[in-house]
Amino acid sequence: MSANPSVTILAIESSCDETSAAICRDGQILSNIIATQAVHEQYGGVVPELASRAHMQHIVPVVQQALVEAKCGVQELSAVAYTQAPGLIGSLLVGAQFAKSLALSLNRPLIGVHHMQAHVLANLITDAPPVFPFLCLTVSGGHTQIVLAHAPLQLEILGETIDDAAGEAFDKTAKLLGLPYPGGPLMDRFAQLGNPKAFSFAEPQIPELNFSFSGLKTSVLYFLQKQTPTFIEANRHDLCASIQYTIVNILLKKLKKAVERTGIQQVCIAGGVSANSGLRNGIREMGERHGWTVHIPSFEYCTDNAGMIAITAYHRYLSGAFTALEEGPAARGAW
Ligand code: KG4
Ligand code: ZN
Repeated sequence: MSANPSVTILAIESSCDETSAAICRDGQILSNIIATQAVHEQYGGVVPELASRAHMQHIVPVVQQALVEAKCGVQELSAVAYTQAPGLIGSLLVGAQFAKSLALSLNRPLIGVHHMQAHVLANLITDAPPVFPFLCLTVSGGHTQIVLAHAPLQLEILGETIDDAAGEAFDKTAKLLGLPYPGGPLMDRFAQLGNPKAFSFAEPQIPELNFSFSGLKTSVLYFLQKQTPTFIEANRHDLCASIQYTIVNILLKKLKKAVERTGIQQVCIAGGVSANSGLRNGIREMGERHGWTVHIPSFEYCTDNAGMIAITAYHRYLSGAFTALEEGPAARGAW
C-alpha cells in the first residue's frame, strides 16, 4: 500500500426529483449518473410521494452504473456520502438509508452533505477551479443565495431570497404562459428566439443583498390577464425573452453589489438556473466589463447531481467531518 492511499467516495443525491450517484477519486469525478423522474410532468410540479417511490426504483441501478462507469468495486470505497439536507424528506430518506446501509455493511465512514453547499462547490469540478475566496450566486428551484466561499467548508451566506427562488420565478411564470413543468429550460429555449426588450416588468427594490421574485410573478399575471390567449400564443418568444431578461437583471445587479461590497472579483454561479443561457451570457458580459474572473460549471453539474455531493464529501473526508449513523436527514437542514 502506498503512503498516500487514494480517497474514493461514492455519493448519492436524492433531495428532489433526480436520483444521482457519482464516484470521486482524489477530487476527480470518475462518473456522475443522473436519472430524471418524468412522472411529475403531468402534474405540473414534483409530487413528493411519487418522487420517493421513483428514487426507490432508481437507486440500485444508478449506483451500479456509477460504479461500473468509474471501474470501481465497492471494496475500493473510502466513504459513502449522501445529501442530508435540505429537500423532500421522503426523497432524502431513500438516499440516506441506502448510504447508511452500504457504509455499515462495508464498515466505511458516512458523510452527510448539505445540498446548497454542494451546489457552490460544483464549481471546483474543473481543471481550472476558482481561487478562494470567491463569490457564488446560487440559483436553484428552492433557493437563491449569494455566498462568500472563504474555503471549501467555510461558506457564508451574504444574501438570499425573501420569498420565491429564481427557479420558482422561471417555473411559475412559465406556467402562466401555459408551458409544462419545469418551465425554466423551455423558457430559456423560447427566450433565445424573442426580443428581451419587447415587454418590461417591474424590478423589486429589496435592501442589502437579498432578493424577491414574488412581485415579478404577480406583475406577469396581471399583464397576462389583460391579454387574449391568441396574444400570448403569438408573443410567446418575446414574453419569455422579456421575463428571462428581468430575472437575470435582478440577479446580476445584486451580484455586482456583492462584488463592490466585498472587493472579491472571483465570481461563480451554481444551481439549476445557472444552466440558463441568458444568465451565463449575462455574467460573462459583466465579467468582461468589470474585470471579474467568471466561473460557470458545466451543464451536468448545474442541475441536481451527485458529482457536487461527491466533491463536497471529498473535502469533508479530508477534514475528518464524518456523520454519525444515528443522524437523520432534514427537510430544512441548517447551513
Ligand atoms: O438546482 P436544481 O436542479 O434543483 C433544486 O435544487 O431546486 O434547480 C432546478 C431549477 C428549476 O426551477 C428549473 O426550472 C431551473 O432550475 N432550470 C432552469 C434552466 N434549467 C433548469 N431555469 C432557467 N433556465 C434553464 N436553462
Ligand atoms: Zn439543487
